[in-house]
Amino acid sequence: MSKASVRAPSNIAFIKYWGAEDLARAVPVNPSISMTLAACVSHSTVEALPPGETDQVLVAEEGGALSPAGPGFSRRVTEHLSVLRRECGSRAGFRVATRNSFPSSAGIASSASGFAALTLATTRALGLTLPGKELSRLARLSGSGSASRSVFGGYVEWPQDLADEALAAAPIATATHWPLCDLIALVETGAKEVSSLDGHRRAATSPHFAARLSELPRRLELVRQAIRERDLALLGPVLEEEAVELHLIAMSSRPPIFYWNPATLAVLARVRELRAAGLGAWCTMDAGANVHVITEPRDEAAVAAALGDTPGVTRVIHDRVGDGPELDAPHLF
Ligand code: PMV
Repeated sequence: MSKASVRAPSNIAFIKYWGAEDLARAVPVNPSISMTLAACVSHSTVEALPPGETDQVLVAEEGGALSPAGPGFSRRVTEHLSVLRRECGSRAGFRVATRNSFPSSAGIASSASGFAALTLATTRALGLTLPGKELSRLARLSGSGSASRSVFGGYVEWPQDLADEALAAAPIATATHWPLCDLIALVETGAKEVSSLDGHRRAATSPHFAARLSELPRRLELVRQAIRERDLALLGPVLEEEAVELHLIAMSSRPPIFYWNPATLAVLARVRELRAAGLGAWCTMDAGANVHVITEPRDEAAVAAALGDTPGVTRVIHDRVGDGPELDAPHLF
């Protein structure tokens, strides 16, 4: 096969990857656990070109028109294509087109879905059918560690087992095991000022970094148990503790990074009110100001309505746990 198209989902981490032993290869300092999403996806088409041809990176617009990608995005894509060429023993050039289902100005991290889609579509365009562990390892080599989790559906753990050369993620529960919802309250549009790569780079400069690492074995075990037992009341407090601590570390890194804005705090307060009123809803955040509110289907409508009503929230994206990548997606060209 010389052309392949894949839709790969984003994911939201319950236990975060924050800080790296080796940033270029995304070797993490700690294990992480995430939920793969369904609605926020990256769609990529990759065509293998004759050996030695120059890579072309295109962005597919809503209506289907293709335009050249900006220089920063193009560079990260071609760097990963070179890694994939080396790892797969190929000299092919590639024509790549990509599109996100969510607005790129929404401030939602797209590196996990983007690099997972690129890895899956490129290996398939080369005619390779690789096991999940190998695909996860290759996605990690993009430098976006969270991409290693997006090649699987459901709930996924990325262990920090330095003895295992692959350092790949693995699924721990299916989507149907626990149909959680993720309501994403958008309070920020546009690119964030400090990338997650810079955040990882600075993490260990925070005096709180070591304290978080010492908390993690307990938190990881609680999250695994909560997923096993489908217990949102057990998961929720760990989720918020972990997300707030990621930002505590960012804010106390040198130099400091402030991802939150006033509306982030307004959403956190609103979700506390919802819990006081008897709803099951808990917050988490990535390296940005937007808030992911994790809830169950029975409370989804009420929580979404309250979030949409919170000052500073421009839109609420309804997402949920998903089954993972779609390997035979329509071609973008
Ligand atoms: O995969 P990266 O390098 O974009 O880093 C992801 C960082 C967080 O989203 C904040 C946490 C995570 O585990 O997804």
